[in-house]
Amino acid sequence: MARLMSMLDVHGRPLRDLRISITDRCNFRCTYCMPREHFSSNHSYIPRDDILTYEEIITVVSSLLPLGLAKVRITGGEPLLRRDVTTLISMLRALDENLDIAMTTNGVLLPRYAEAMKESGLSRVTVSLDAVEEDKFASITDSRNTPEDVFAGIHAAQEAGLPVKVNCVVKKGVNEDQIIPLTNACIERNIAVRFIEFMDVGTTNQWNIDAVMSGKEMRTELTDFFGPLKRVKPQHPSDVARMWEMENGATVGFIESVTNPFCGDCSRARLSAHGSLYTCLFSSHGFDLRGMLRFEADIDDIAYAIQDIWIHRNDKYSEERASSKKHRQRVEMSFIGG
Ligand code: GTP
Ligand code: 5AD
Ligand code: SF4
Ligand code: SF4
Repeated sequence: MARLMSMLDVHGRPLRDLRISITDRCNFRCTYCMPREHFSSNHSYIPRDDILTYEEIITVVSSLLPLGLAKVRITGGEPLLRRDVTTLISMLRALDENLDIAMTTNGVLLPRYAEAMKESGLSRVTVSLDAVEEDKFASITDSRNTPEDVFAGIHAAQEAGLPVKVNCVVKKGVNEDQIIPLTNACIERNIAVRFIEFMDVGTTNQWNIDAVMSGKEMRTELTDFFGPLKRVKPQHPSDVARMWEMENGATVGFIESVTNPFCGDCSRARLSAHGSLYTCLFSSHGFDLRGMLRFEADIDDIAYAIQDIWIHRNDKYSEERASSKKHRQRVEMSFIGG
């Protein structure tokens, strides 16, 4: 069978970045992601047998490498809750020594895993942290952990030699007062922080435009405190974060999916823990690859299936959000992966 070389979607976008959710479970219950009233003990998580094995994930990634895949991100839920995650990292690293292998985590399990993950070939971690104040952190994450636990995780990752970024979802009236202290905490630790606009992902987080603090409003707060910010040129057109530099040399980023969408260069696909491929964070349905994988599909079969999906991809949800009257059924972020 002839090898496919590269592929573009309807808007000319390649598939460079695969976000792989390895579990839909999490040890936090962040109000904007897994609110406890919807994710209690009787929530039906994906049954264990339906979750892709590491070998199955590797088949999918192997099929995409010749098509131009340059980056994978291991996400959840909380990916460090899945057993033997270092095995998956080693298997991914064995496929390609240049592949960018990142992980999104809430950080509290990093002290246990950071060193082994670095040794297995992980490139870097992104840690979610929405508040440095203990009470606020507790009410947002609805967990027994503290910001100190997350900082201990960040420290462990840095000690292990893993570059760290911090992501903070800002909700108006909830944690906008954390922007300055969190930025200071990241400057102290020499970490780039990125602030994210609260998105209407999923259907359980009671999203409301009034709760969105725009990137512009966040920059005003930062400018008032730190002085002027200067825009930094993007490293890659598909970057989700727009970076700015402070007078003190520190950088801070904004992920403005609501007020300044970035669908134009979106080269991201998502693989859910149960093996469906989603071509947009806001897709209402995915394409089942698990069925094929369990019907003895090989790497080429999967490559052809994904090519067929990708060349028909027309998604631009964030750019169409304001004008669209359609009410979409959307999957939860803990399911599809942050
Ligand atoms: P880097 O490779 O480190 O730059 O990571 P990234 O830019 O892919 O960002 P990251 O994975 O840290 O994503 C940060 C957040 O941006 C996610 O948790 C989402 O909230 C949001 N985000 C990421 N990808 C998309 C996307 O494709 N669409 C939208 N609307 N939001 C996204
Ligand atoms: N809006 C913005 N980001 C979200 N995340 C989850 N839910 C939302 C939302 N509603 C992202 C955050 C978090 C990651 C795991 O998922 O970036 O850090
Ligand atoms: Fe868990 Fe991250 Fe969702 Fe919080 S945002 S509930 S830490 S997956
Ligand atoms: Fe990509 Fe969809 Fe996000 Fe737009 S809304 S950037 S198309 S994932």
